[in-house]
Amino acid sequence: MRLQDKVAIVTGAANGLGLEAAITFVREGAKVALVDFDSSGAERANELKNQGADVEFFQVNVADRESVDSMVQQVMDRFGKIDILINNAGITRDGMLTKLSSEDFQRVLDVNITGVFNCTQAVVPHMLANGKGKIVNTSSVSGVYGNVGQTNYAASKAAVVGMTKTWAKELGRKGINVNAVVPGFIETNMVATVPEKVIEQIKAMIPLHRLGKPSDIANAYLFLSSDESDYVNGTSLHVDGGIMM
Ligand code: CAA
Ligand code: NAI
Repeated sequence: MRLQDKVAIVTGAANGLGLEAAITFVREGAKVALVDFDSSGAERANELKNQGADVEFFQVNVADRESVDSMVQQVMDRFGKIDILINNAGITRDGMLTKLSSEDFQRVLDVNITGVFNCTQAVVPHMLANGKGKIVNTSSVSGVYGNVGQTNYAASKAAVVGMTKTWAKELGRKGINVNAVVPGFIETNMVATVPEKVIEQIKAMIPLHRLGKPSDIANAYLFLSSDESDYVNGTSLHVDGGIMM
């Protein structure tokens, strides 16, 4: 039990990497607030509750500051503290630069940058009061190396690395570790939108010659949320099969 009695907020927890993280954290003894704007998260939370987990679902758009503040207060009322924040919610709106609309550019920044800022700024006062905390942000190889068709998304995920390092410097001396996970291409709904011929091109670039699994990322979130990573701060942990070296 690597997260015994810890309280974690996981955003984007109704699907994909966030759901896998919630399941993994429960297995390791954590109480989990599953946050998502997709209402199917309520069913996922009920399934976990039926297995004896102490979890709650909150339907929230992370880009909406008022909803985030309200959610964080409700988590405090329900669980009494917040030890871990996994800023996992994110979206893509892919398009070549010449075709990308301003709306799709801005929408991705609103969720992937402002959403991470909103959740972190709302949670940090509670971690400061506690004298400790773990924050894990989700970047992407697209933000580090760039990716065809992802001007908006790459910009947002590079920003996540910048925010991570800034917060690691601001908050480290207050007992709060802030790190980023940098996933490569992982089998979730997000990657399912990529044309098959592009997936084949991508696989050819990965030394392991396959996509990653959600558990590969959940295990990285787990390490960076547990006491085992107490001296890890401001790092970007690549979990990408070695796609770019
Ligand atoms: N890598 C390399 N080449 C790519 C590419 C990629 N990711 N995406 C597109 N291309 C190539 C295409 O193969 C095509 O090449 P040819 O002209 O030689 O045929 C060219 O770029 C133009 O592509 P399309 O014909 O598909 O152009 P389109 O305007 O119809 O669509 C697109 C553009 C929406 C960007 C579409 O190509 C697409 O969805 N590409 C995938 C983008 C991608 O990789 N998204 C990652 C989503 S998963 C994710 O984001 C998770 C993460 O963090 C990594
Ligand atoms: P997914 O699309 O399967 O799940 C994302 C979840 O976030 C969904 O449940 C969605 O409803 C939720 N969400 C989206 N916008 C939200 C908002 N404004 N407020 C609340 N919830 C919101 O995607 P996946 O693959 O699980 O992605 C999780 C994170 O990992 C994202 O930040 C993504 O950018 C990142 N990532 C994913 C990679 C992959 O290959 N799957 C690679 C690199 C990074």
